[in-house]
Amino acid sequence: MNMLKTHPIDTLKLDHEHLKQISLKQLFADDPSRFQKFSLKAAGLFLDYSKNRITDLTFTHLIYFANAAGLPAQIEALFSGEWVNNTEERPALHPALRDSSDPAFSAIDPQVTAKIQESLVIMQDWVTQLHDRQWLGYSQKPITDIVHIGIGGSYLGPLASTEALMKHPKALPCHFAASIDSVEIEAILQTLNPETTLFIIASKTFTTQETLLTAEHAKTWLRQSAGTQDISKHFIAITANIQNAIDYGISNKQILAFEHGVGGRYSSWSGIGLPIAICVGMTAFRAFLAGAHDMDLHFRNAPFHANMPVILALLGFWYIQFFKSTHHAILPYDYRLRSLPRYLQQLDMESNGKCVQKNGEPVWGNTAPVLFGEIGTNGQHSFHQLLFQGTHVIPCDFIATIQSEALEKDRSVLLSHCLAQSQGLMLGKSARDIEGSLIQNGMEPQKAQLLAKHKAIPGNQPSNTLLISKLTPQTLGSLMALYEHKTFVQGVLWNINSFDQWGVELGKDIAKELLACLKNHTTTPHQDVSTQGLLDYIYKHTAN
Ligand code: F6P
Repeated sequence: MNMLKTHPIDTLKLDHEHLKQISLKQLFADDPSRFQKFSLKAAGLFLDYSKNRITDLTFTHLIYFANAAGLPAQIEALFSGEWVNNTEERPALHPALRDSSDPAFSAIDPQVTAKIQESLVIMQDWVTQLHDRQWLGYSQKPITDIVHIGIGGSYLGPLASTEALMKHPKALPCHFAASIDSVEIEAILQTLNPETTLFIIASKTFTTQETLLTAEHAKTWLRQSAGTQDISKHFIAITANIQNAIDYGISNKQILAFEHGVGGRYSSWSGIGLPIAICVGMTAFRAFLAGAHDMDLHFRNAPFHANMPVILALLGFWYIQFFKSTHHAILPYDYRLRSLPRYLQQLDMESNGKCVQKNGEPVWGNTAPVLFGEIGTNGQHSFHQLLFQGTHVIPCDFIATIQSEALEKDRSVLLSHCLAQSQGLMLGKSARDIEGSLIQNGMEPQKAQLLAKHKAIPGNQPSNTLLISKLTPQTLGSLMALYEHKTFVQGVLWNINSFDQWGVELGKDIAKELLACLKNHTTTPHQDVSTQGLLDYIYKHTAN
């Protein structure tokens, strides 16, 4: 078949017609070299993608589609600081945050790279002061605790990273408050001493209601203790909107700025990563950046057939477009990566949960999947039943670390489950085999036949397995950058803008109007009757 005469999508449709009939078990039987062929190492990560419903030819056609979608030019546009975020007319600068001194980023505005370097110097200075207990509060006592107030991209990356990495010997405990529900911040504050607590207000826009309300709560708590004493030393702002932070009352010397071209969900590498640096130390934070930079260089230079982010993106695209899968599971088999699924949810779903192409036309198929996940083996006692016997094609990313910092050095139990889950999902178990063993164990044949149908595992559920020898700042940086670039590639395949998030604005606007109603116990006639009914019910059940 001459690919050049057939539209790439039509070629892939033919592949799917063929491959949907072939089991994964058969694909391995047909080609014993699948593991060697469909696995690769990059930037300290090892990926086995052989348990996917693909062949060499399919992959060639997927890469053909990626080239036809203009991926090479888009990758260059990303790294050259072009406006890949077309609706906000901005670049996406997260790669430049990793190593702006690299000549590969020579196209980035020198003023931007200078500011990036400057913010790292400020971070270094603040981390040193805090680690050396030189940052004093209003009563001249050294700061002992950090409270990071932020939400979404101003929260999830720092949270996931600080949980994943070893703490610096001089690290200060860092507490995270994201929820608008004051129960969270109050639970944190009741354990802390106002004299020795430093608040990081992390907000790219410095207008986010949740963050500013929680910051007000913190300010009130501190004021109750400090009285009229100056509490300005207790607040740092991390933002792209310096003036908003100044207007809020943050001292100019305690504002760590970053560029508007850095997307919130791509901002852990900027000043938003300050809690990471406080927890792990600046040397480790720079290693975190370096790991991500290694993945940047791999992504920018590796041919697509050996390019880890491109491979993950094409596989996800293949299942969404042709197997009609609508979900994707992230299954880390490491407690330290427990917040990785939450972080990747925002990264993937806020980037590519779109229905309009860059040119304003509707998309031509499904886009981002519902991403979910849980650490193993917890997920095995929660939703893995659906993965094994449900009715959905749900590609799974298993992520496991081989070495651990834990006292129990042996990871064999975790690794045995991780590999068993991916094998079991692939091979399944036939009713015939189960029926035979039930009868062999003495069960009456008719009963055995029925039970076997309930115990049968269809198999053919695809999965990737990422192995990390040791979870370090470098490998964590590589892992997070891997998924950033996977997300970007899928955005290119769908011709959507992965860097805006207009969908979150409507809810915020409606909430403003409803807040006014709730404050006054009123409803507005133009409200839908459901909202009016709910408001009335709330008013009737609100203690007066
Ligand atoms: O969820 C919408 C969003 O704008 C995210 O993109 C962002 O990470 C989050 O809210 C917080 O925004 P900010 O950092 O401006 O407070």
